[in-house]
Amino acid sequence: MWDAETVVLGIESSCDETAAALVTGDRRVLAQRIASQEAEHAPFGGVVPEIAARAHAEKLAPLIEAVLADAGMALTDCDAVAATAGPGLIGGVMVGLVTAKALAMASERPLIAINHLEGHALSPRLVDPELEFPYALLLVSGGHCQILRVEGVGRYSRLATTIDDALGEAFDKTAKILGLPYPGGPAVEKLAREGDPRAVALPRPLVGSGEPHFSFAGLKSAVLRAAESGKYGRADIAASFQQAAVDCICDRLTRALDTMDETISLVVAGGVAANQQVRQALEDLAAQRDLRFVAPPLELCTDNAAMIAWAGVERLREGASDPLDIAARPRWPLDPAAEPVRGAGYKG
Ligand code: KG4
Ligand code: ZN
Repeated sequence: MWDAETVVLGIESSCDETAAALVTGDRRVLAQRIASQEAEHAPFGGVVPEIAARAHAEKLAPLIEAVLADAGMALTDCDAVAATAGPGLIGGVMVGLVTAKALAMASERPLIAINHLEGHALSPRLVDPELEFPYALLLVSGGHCQILRVEGVGRYSRLATTIDDALGEAFDKTAKILGLPYPGGPAVEKLAREGDPRAVALPRPLVGSGEPHFSFAGLKSAVLRAAESGKYGRADIAASFQQAAVDCICDRLTRALDTMDETISLVVAGGVAANQQVRQALEDLAAQRDLRFVAPPLELCTDNAAMIAWAGVERLREGASDPLDIAARPRWPLDPAAEPVRGAGYKG
């Protein structure tokens, strides 16, 4: 059952944000809350899975209660419960999924298990009713760096992935090298504003190569060498790193777009899509190629539950629901047919 009034409760717990949201069939976000675990993980310079799982277990139920109260609704006013079922840190994913199962069972509503990456991939459609399939998607987060052709709900064709680090991971590692606080992406972006992007000559791995894959390990090593040389200021290194990363993205995306004929929109999603220089560069690239450019607002780029609830709406509209014994998946590729790439660590 689906219509404009449909309300889906979404739950997100795959990494270090505990989040819940209520989203309607006609794209209204009735309520949403995010409890960040930044303070818990900051002393370790990264996400500690066990701490994350425990924090989700503590925070999730009160958060859901609060979101329902914000919207003045009861659980039974919801038409379905959607939760991230992977990929991600398995302990956290299980907390969210088990909670969703219990709520679905208690309210006798369908459970919808969401692929977190599909949450990111469909998030631009929550804010842009005009965004039609198919579209070209650059999905750049802490764990993933992919170019996909989004053909429909559940239908993805992966054109490129990273053969080593994800882009968000490269930002986070650069932040660590520069002594910046966790999470690294926003800190690097801020510092880069004060630096000269041409100050440090850094490599652009794989730029110009035939297939549109990514690689950031060499860039990260070069950042480390630049920092250790003592020859450059931190802001100049941050700015030069960000410029190199943006150059890589634009080159790889250009290569991929050359193979996608009927695509009329270029879309970016995932945590790194919050980066202004990345957004500007993609907007320029889209303009050059006469493509529509869609980037979700910043709060919808980083992990949140509105995108999970929205993916639930999209799936519900297709008549989908999942059994209560569905398992959490630490790995869950959007395009199961995509071949592993040579030199790649498995990135799902
Ligand atoms: O999508 P997300 O919140 O979580 C994952 O699913 O991974 O992405 C988090 C990643 C982190 O690596 C973070 O450093 C990066 O996104 N990020 C940014 C910015 N904001 C978040 N990277 C660059 N610039 C930003 N402003
Ligand atoms: Zn994410």
